[in-house]
Amino acid sequence: MPNTILIGAQWGDEGKGKIIDFLTDDAELVVRSQGGNNAGHTVIIGEKKYVLHLIPSGILRSDKICVIGNGVVVDPVDVVREIEGLRKQGIKVDGNNLVISDCAHIVLPYHRIIDECREKAKGDKKIGTTKRGIGPCYGDKVERTGLRMADLMEPKLFTEKLRAKIEENNIVLKAFGVPPIDFEEVNAAYLAAGKKLKPFVTNTVVYLHQALKKKKNMLFEGAQGTFLDLDHGTYPYVTSSNTTAGGASTGTGVPPHRIDRVMGVMKAYTTRVGEGPFPTENKEISDMLHDMGREFGSTTGRARRCGWFDAVATRYAAMINGIDELAVTNLDGLDQLKTIKVCVAYKLGSKTLEVPPSDLRQLVKCKPVYVEFPGWMKSTADAQTFEELPAKARTYLKKLASLTGGKLSIVSVGASRAQTIRL
Ligand code: IMP
Ligand code: MG
Repeated sequence: MPNTILIGAQWGDEGKGKIIDFLTDDAELVVRSQGGNNAGHTVIIGEKKYVLHLIPSGILRSDKICVIGNGVVVDPVDVVREIEGLRKQGIKVDGNNLVISDCAHIVLPYHRIIDECREKAKGDKKIGTTKRGIGPCYGDKVERTGLRMADLMEPKLFTEKLRAKIEENNIVLKAFGVPPIDFEEVNAAYLAAGKKLKPFVTNTVVYLHQALKKKKNMLFEGAQGTFLDLDHGTYPYVTSSNTTAGGASTGTGVPPHRIDRVMGVMKAYTTRVGEGPFPTENKEISDMLHDMGREFGSTTGRARRCGWFDAVATRYAAMINGIDELAVTNLDGLDQLKTIKVCVAYKLGSKTLEVPPSDLRQLVKCKPVYVEFPGWMKSTADAQTFEELPAKARTYLKKLASLTGGKLSIVSVGASRAQTIRL
């Protein structure tokens, strides 16, 4: 397999977890480059369901190596919990199949509390974050005041740095009117987690370059999606990392030209969790999908906002990420519909736009221009090949690919591994 970046072409939750799991067959290393435990990947294997937040789903296969790169933010206590949870489910996790960058920044309790306080203070202008402290943690990184995994590996130094950080942040917490953090308690919990993580922590840049030399295949597992990208998304309603293809390089130290292929994952419709503009949002399709028991977040359990497929958005995603191939997921979510709409352009006043405006104030004023497709109105869940799909579903899929730009190479028609069609 060529070294591949897998990214979300929409607002996250495109079903990347399942596609990554599928592609992992052909990869030797699975690498995460950005985000933190704000992500949630659900993978179903046989009867078992696994929900992963920080650790790549490659961990579910004993012969794969998972790498958490320098661009990721790690909550050490939470990742220990995730490791121990996996072990309880019978999954082997040790320093041979999981490595964590010594440069990854650490999420601390004040990041989470400040995340929550800021959201509350914003009232109806809130971002709708996962409250995992992701924004404040990346904020410290950019401020150059963050603590990294390498610091945690040196207890004396960590304790000293943490004391100063907690002193400072307790002043901020006081200003927000919330209780201060107990230094001793946090220090003890983090040092204990650090001790457990020691076997995993290393210079992942060197590790990855050694693997490149040995021609090992790499799969870069994107978290969140294109429109949650800090630079290219619907700012400020975004996450705090670069979720687009370029982030795979900066977040791991693997040079761009050593990466061969970009695969974009998109749903056959659109969803978004959290606040922010969503031009094709539609109540009818939201209600239908929620009634089917679909589209509830795996990290926060929130009901996702749903809407029609937005080709203006995915076309832009194809541009930014350089999408070569497309995986379309959740096709079966549309099985009951008589008519399916696809947004092919935006109307902004008298102007017709082919790509989304970068200014949020304009984006909220955009009205989708729809084309309609007849629904296939039968189950696609058992289709094993593209030819076995109803003709109308095939037409619809081909249209999504041609509107977006990119070769349609995978279609997913259900949550299980078997419900995946390769073209
Ligand atoms: P944060 O990443 O927790 O700061 O949240 C910022 C925005 O990104 C919010 O709208 C979240 O709902 C969204 N978000 C963060 N992680 C994910 C994800 O894994 N899937 C979908 N949305 C996400
Ligand atoms: Mg998710």
